[in-house]
Amino acid sequence: MAYAANDMSSEAIAERTKPVGSVYTAKDLEGIVDTAAGGTGGEPAEPRSGEAVFNAACSACHATGAAGAPIKGDAAAWGPRVAQGRDTLVNHALNGFNAMPPRGACGNCSDEEIANAVDYMMDAI
Ligand code: HEC
Repeated sequence: MAYAANDMSSEAIAERTKPVGSVYTAKDLEGIVDTAAGGTGGEPAEPRSGEAVFNAACSACHATGAAGAPIKGDAAAWGPRVAQGRDTLVNHALNGFNAMPPRGACGNCSDEEIANAVDYMMDAI
């Protein structure tokens, strides 16, 4: 950023007088170093929220009852299932259970994203 030498605004003065070496912090360099080392330089994508996964991959059945799926928010339908414990529910969501397809047939959902979607449905009861 170029400032006229006679620019006396505090911003201009701060720019002219800031200490040498303050331009890059270690944090600024992290991405550059990662890239040089063969990394992508970026953070891995965040796992999608349970709501996002539900809307994309689960709602076709769990919002409508299609194929006999327990509907999100239907406490009577979910009660005995919840009683099995979260681990069993997540396991059935990952591996399939009767007419429930493995991962809700979501090919690009991670284990964590499927678990997020299960938690999202459990939160609705
Ligand atoms: C093609 C329809 C369909 C889709 C899509 C689907 N489900 Fe299901 N799901 C079912 C059906 C049907 C059942 C009931 C199976 C049974 O009890 O026999 C079920 C049951 C479940 C259960 C309860 C399992 C148990 O032990 O009682 C969970 C948890 C679940 N689904 C999670 C999910 C999640 C998470 C997604 C999205 C990633 C999803 N489902 C997508 C049809 C579907």
